[in-house]
Amino acid sequence: MNKVNPFKPNSPVSTGMFAGRMKEIVLLEKALFQTKNGLPCNILVTGERGIGKSSLMMILKDFASGYVETLEHGKFNFLTIGGMVSDKTDLVTLIRLIERNVQREIGKTDALRKYLSATWAFAKRIRIMDSGIEAEDAISDPDIIIDEFAYSLAQTCERISRPEKGEERKDGILFIIDEADNASDSLRIGYFFKVVTELLQQHGCHNIMFVVVGLPEIADKLLSSHESSLRIFNQVKITELSPSDRKRVVDLGLEEANRINEDKTKISEEAKSHISTLSEGYPHFIQQFSYSAFDFSSDGEISSDDVLDGAFDKGGAIDSIGARYYAADYHSKIKSDEYRQVLSIMAESMNSWIKKSEIREKFSGADQTLTDALAALTKRKIILKNSSARGEYRLQQRGFAIWIKLFGERRK
Ligand SMILES: Nc1ncnc2c1ncn2[C@@H]1O[C@H](COP(=O)(O)OP(=O)(O)O)[C@@H](O)[C@H]1O
Ligand SMILES: [Mg+2]
Repeated sequence: MNKVNPFKPNSPVSTGMFAGRMKEIVLLEKALFQTKNGLPCNILVTGERGIGKSSLMMILKDFASGYVETLEHGKFNFLTIGGMVSDKTDLVTLIRLIERNVQREIGKTDALRKYLSATWAFAKRIRIMDSGIEAEDAISDPDIIIDEFAYSLAQTCERISRPEKGEERKDGILFIIDEADNASDSLRIGYFFKVVTELLQQHGCHNIMFVVVGLPEIADKLLSSHESSLRIFNQVKITELSPSDRKRVVDLGLEEANRINEDKTKISEEAKSHISTLSEGYPHFIQQFSYSAFDFSSDGEISSDDVLDGAFDKGGAIDSIGARYYAADYHSKIKSDEYRQVLSIMAESMNSWIKKSEIREKFSGADQTLTDALAALTKRKIILKNSSARGEYRLQQRGFAIWIKLFGERRK
């Protein structure tokens, strides 16, 4: 049968396929409303890999730009700028990236292009180390670069909030900075946001909102680069989807499938429950289990067996999820079966703290091997060592724990 598979295990979903997150959406909407009215809100969105941060940001973008009407505040019209941080992003790249995006989004008329080019002229004067550019007015001091940046941003925001004749009026600017946990120490990301938001205030610019997105460890990263940088953000922690939202993800997918395919697809209630239970609420698991079940089903109805075969068979969902998210940790960073046994024992406690003595009771190898394994796994950041209780460890991520458990189940 030739059916297009609607499920999206590999990329964020947009409005049509998005389920749940009501509380988070209401909160983000409120933050946009506050910002539009001169009380800027900055938000830090944290959550494990595959929990749905980038998908939520796509929804936020649709709301902020006015592409979709919000639940309680009508349509917004923010200039919305998105960007991603990699471990190679430095201050200059970050600023140039933002400048370019601003140009692209609003530099649509001659007058605005001219305005932007004058307002952001400083960006051309940034001297990059070793580039050989030695212009007299070149700037290289990070504090001066940040100062110029904040000033240009404030000017730009002022112009689009109070446009000249024929230009469109904007509510302000929304920045969405995804994968910020990648930031290198030298980017000093906490310091950057702290200083920029303060300078914007000083320049009388009160309608710019920053949303910074990353793995939970981003909070420590912000703190370590500036001790009070966390205080400028309201933190939103993204967690597992509720059982009814999990089923909604499956339903939305099948609605889409039946819209685009001539051959219709149904799913049994039991099969849906299996997807919900196996996934433990992790959206990337739901999408992948659904994708594989859809693939395995050969008649018009997805059964429990389709779900289980799709999940556990070779090349099925567990393998795909592993390859995409966890295999790097599980296979390539850990060469020894004994180390993997330690992880399996730990996974039984998901990601809560577990005493070394409890692991030892279940571990079949030598004491020294266990000691070595814990040290090596901690060093590779696959597990965490409790700094306030001796001899306690835990897995970093719940998603990883679920995957290890499912991977072990497969042999049965
Ligand atoms: N609310 C949601 N409804 C349906 N699918 C979702 C939802 N959130 C995430 N997903 C799916 O889960 C997977 C991971 O989502 P993503 O937004 O990329 O997570 P993150 O950015 O946290 O790693 C994607 O395949 C996406 O399609
Ligand atoms: Mg993401």
